[in-house]
Amino acid sequence: MTQSWNAIDAVPEPDLRTVFEGEADRLARFTLRVGGVRFDWSKTHITQELKTAFLSLADEQEFARRRDALFAGEKINNTEGRAAEHTAERGEGAPDSVATAKAFHNRMRALIDAIEAEAFGPVRHIVHVGIGGSALGPKLLMDALGRDTDRYDVAIVSNVDGCALEEAVKDFDPTTTLLAVASKTFTTTETMLNAQSVINWMVEGGVEDPYGRVVALTASPDKAIEWGVDETRILPFSETVGGRYSLWSSIGFPAALGLGWDAFESLLEGAAEMDRHFRLSALEENAPLMAAFIDQYYAHKKGCQTRGVFAYDERLRLLPDYLQQLEMESNGKSVKTDGSPVDGPTAPITWGGVGTDAQHAVFQLLHQGTQLTPVEFIASIEPGHGLDPAHHRVLLTNCFAQGAALMRGRANPDDPARAYPGGRPSTTILLEDVTPHVLGALIAFYEHRTFANAVLIGINPFDQFGVELGKEIAKSIETEGTSGFDPSTTALIELAMGADT
Ligand code: F6P
Repeated sequence: MTQSWNAIDAVPEPDLRTVFEGEADRLARFTLRVGGVRFDWSKTHITQELKTAFLSLADEQEFARRRDALFAGEKINNTEGRAAEHTAERGEGAPDSVATAKAFHNRMRALIDAIEAEAFGPVRHIVHVGIGGSALGPKLLMDALGRDTDRYDVAIVSNVDGCALEEAVKDFDPTTTLLAVASKTFTTTETMLNAQSVINWMVEGGVEDPYGRVVALTASPDKAIEWGVDETRILPFSETVGGRYSLWSSIGFPAALGLGWDAFESLLEGAAEMDRHFRLSALEENAPLMAAFIDQYYAHKKGCQTRGVFAYDERLRLLPDYLQQLEMESNGKSVKTDGSPVDGPTAPITWGGVGTDAQHAVFQLLHQGTQLTPVEFIASIEPGHGLDPAHHRVLLTNCFAQGAALMRGRANPDDPARAYPGGRPSTTILLEDVTPHVLGALIAFYEHRTFANAVLIGINPFDQFGVELGKEIAKSIETEGTSGFDPSTTALIELAMGADT
């Protein structure tokens, strides 16, 4: 344990049930607004004393220097020897990288203009195939922002299970479909198989030149050309943009096409506003860093292994899925940047759902279970529909009631089964509305919070070697069959796939 951690451990724990009583300015002190997003941490265990102790930890971990290195395009992804330049996609980063990203965006815009002008014939449907970071971001954007637009029918397919693709294209006409193949590496098995099946479906549907209707979104243009995509329809992005940080690059193509270029630009501007806040504001007033302090507190001091994220807005129902990859793939690590073992918790297991559905399914455990789960509520002041305002009122009332109930609890000495312990923390993130700008700021907040957590722990959030072993073994089953496997794996392969696999 370092000196700073000892200082954090020495801070007395406040009682959440009474925390507002002794602190008249608690709400103002632990609330911040950035880019149309209001963060309220006042219902967590954070105190001024604790914040001061965490600020020392940030100093000890050279937080300011590492943050500046991120924006300066230094090679902070040490295990892969490269920079992490997703912020350059939003215009915030090293000037050369910003210029490259701008040129790539211009290329994407020109292709979108050409598609809109029917340069490739009429296009009605877009099938975007990609997985992980090459699907989750565009999916979230289309689901959150694309509900009222009918510019194109956009289907985003990730799972290699043929049921997913079959379902996605069942109402599409192959002759008016454009295939977007999204893969940073252009080697991912699931994506390449799905892409090939879309080509086959086009051929069967009478499309004479299916490759003429393919757009590649990739950091490996050579591989896309090898696969058959014409150079003019390759939308590159930089190798320094990580997969789970790539929705701002050409990976966002289906959203830029489906929502329109203005919406895509506004998304980037919202993210840039959060970037500037993260980069320029004092550490005492820094939203992503503050959230990371609280994450670290619950992980280390209270032993919380998970964090629940509940979107009280149907438009954000895919946010928990998106955050799972962002946080768990980034920070689910066991070694520090210097190769030494991590001696404590790293990423929380991120899970969640939508309010009010989750209330009627999983909130029992949050209120009365024996494990403590910090909860994050996300709601929007403006509704996403034109129905009776009662819908939105009931939605928000429920959201705010849950936070109050978790904190306050209710004693019941006569009937313990009906008692609520209370003292359970929650953060409320209130959006002005679910617009491209606000969503851009919100996603960038989560990216920077993930980075801030990594700095406080001392790990590299930008590699993901943990996913490689399973991929290798799957490939060896394809090529070498069952030889060398344990009896359980061998039996499964033989039973489900045939003895000579
Ligand atoms: O296997 C994990 C992963 O590498 C993710 O990091 C990435 O987002 C996803 O696979 C897809 O990779 P690609 O964009 O190269 O197809």
